[in-house]
Amino acid sequence: MNHRIVFPETVGKLERYQLITSLVVPRPIGWISTFGLDGTPNLAPFSFFSAISATPMLISVSVGARRGERKDTLVNIRQRGEFCANVVTELHLEAMNQTSAEAGPGVDEFALAGLPMATASVVNAPYVADCPAVLECRCIQEVEIGEAGGLFIGEVVAIHVGTSLDVIEGTEYVDPESLRPIGRLWGAAYTLLGEIKVIQRPQ
Ligand SMILES: Cc1cc2nc3c(=O)[nH]c(=O)nc-3n(C[C@H](O)[C@H](O)[C@H](O)COP(=O)(O)O)c2cc1C
Repeated sequence: MNHRIVFPETVGKLERYQLITSLVVPRPIGWISTFGLDGTPNLAPFSFFSAISATPMLISVSVGARRGERKDTLVNIRQRGEFCANVVTELHLEAMNQTSAEAGPGVDEFALAGLPMATASVVNAPYVADCPAVLECRCIQEVEIGEAGGLFIGEVVAIHVGTSLDVIEGTEYVDPESLRPIGRLWGAAYTLLGEIKVIQRPQ
């Protein structure tokens, strides 16, 4: 395979964004819900989101700057130290997109998207009440990214597994056919669950 090699420092900010978001795919979407200091609920999707480790149970979410300014999610996680990561499924694709709107800190995106809200059981954060899977998280570390962005490492302290989900008998594996997860490609492109291939690991 012949390659054209691109060095990040030789291309613009936009091109770096285009390359990373179209090559590291598909990405799960952490739909992050928090409370502001004044109690306003906040909800926004983040695809720079990943599972880090099972024990301890850790996830990461990276919140970038918006034209040099801090996003509400970043401000809220810094102030409160707690958040929920709602798993985005086919059920919520449209609503998830609506909550990515640029809304000021005083705006409740649950109300904006007509989503039912509930308060988490362990952490002080809201969550999407009809979301089939929710991770309640406590921030254990932040790595600052540039002037107004941050990568947050969250320890999962409680997991909501919707009773509508099928769990493989004798395990805690959730059947993806019942979860119907969404993956982000780039821009406005998403991937739904396609063909599932099962390949055994070598002995
Ligand atoms: C599918 C999707 C994924 C996104 N992923 C990210 C991301 O990883 N990091 C980021 O900073 N913004 C991301 N955004 C944009 C934020 O959702 C958007 O800036 C939002 O308004 C932030 O809200 P807040 O100010 O309430 O935190 C994404 C948007 C969409 C639709």
